[in-house]
Amino acid sequence: MIEVQHFTKHYGDFIAVDDLSFTIGKGETFGFIGPNGAGKSTTIRFLATLLRPTSGEGRVAGFSVTSEPMAVRRVIGFMPDDFGVYDGMKVWEFLDFFAVAYEIPRGYRKKIIGEVLELLDLTHKRDDYVNGLSKGMKQRLCLAKTLVHDPPVLILDEPASGLDPRARLEMKALLNELRQMGKTILISSHILSELADFCTSIGIIERGKLLAAGSIREIQNQIRSHRVLKVRVLDESTDRAAELLRGDSSIRMVEAYDHTLSAEFEGQDRDMARVLDRLIQSGITVQSFAEEPLSLEEVFMMITKGIVA
Ligand SMILES: Nc1ncnc2c1ncn2[C@@H]1O[C@H](COP(=O)(O)OP(=O)(O)O)[C@@H](O)[C@H]1O
Ligand SMILES: [Mg+2]
Repeated sequence: MIEVQHFTKHYGDFIAVDDLSFTIGKGETFGFIGPNGAGKSTTIRFLATLLRPTSGEGRVAGFSVTSEPMAVRRVIGFMPDDFGVYDGMKVWEFLDFFAVAYEIPRGYRKKIIGEVLELLDLTHKRDDYVNGLSKGMKQRLCLAKTLVHDPPVLILDEPASGLDPRARLEMKALLNELRQMGKTILISSHILSELADFCTSIGIIERGKLLAAGSIREIQNQIRSHRVLKVRVLDESTDRAAELLRGDSSIRMVEAYDHTLSAEFEGQDRDMARVLDRLIQSGITVQSFAEEPLSLEEVFMMITKGIVA
């Protein structure tokens, strides 16, 4: 749904983004993560057709960012990192302004604005002035504005920045709802934990270079030499289970404490299934059997420390 191909942007001698390529599939929520100044907004503004590349190309829903910008604008909802405040405008007028800009027929505008306000829980603020809203509500209104033309793709530049914890949670819930509506979402943040629990894939950018991109699982597999298997068994089976695991060719190290076994696993998914099968076949009562996920924080630390470059 979104494709970035060799995007490069120079400002004079300064290389803000260097040969960036990644793909985001339909219905995915892609977290674009990197510290301040990494090049997130530059890339996002390029995709939103607001910035010409030094070189490279982008595609959104099949349309070229460089040669079909108007078509791209119709399929995206773009929320910039800073948005202007419209003095003297009421909430509904603000949305109506964008609905007009998107050439939504007069007869539909009221209905659509009502729906968007309802979705973003702003119906009770319909006749309030935009200036008077809290920061969290302004952000929500800005998100509302990106939805009036019902775009399949949302491109959101740090939508949760500057929000208090409660407003952040509300924003998250909203994004989840939008994801469930089938939207493809690109969302940036310099705070990893903000994106960790609801993105389907991520891209990590630092100093203009993409360090890793893909599903969280893919990235985890890419960077770690071994996987960790956690097996919990009923008490009386612990010793036998440890012995069986130690004897398996795909397992290197086994630690047991209490009745949980932690094993370094070096094999394919098929081998993991075989290990479980062997445990059960041997009459060991397995209470749970799972691969221990590497946390996104660990992934991020490993990647930005240059373990993978
Ligand atoms: N118009 C510009 N002129 C010169 N340098 C710029 C301009 N816009 C951004 N930069 C620089 O490009 C780098 C990337 O910026 P940006 O994409 O805004 O990063 P991020 O959004 O990840 O914080 C930064 O070092 C920034 O100072
Ligand atoms: Mg930015």
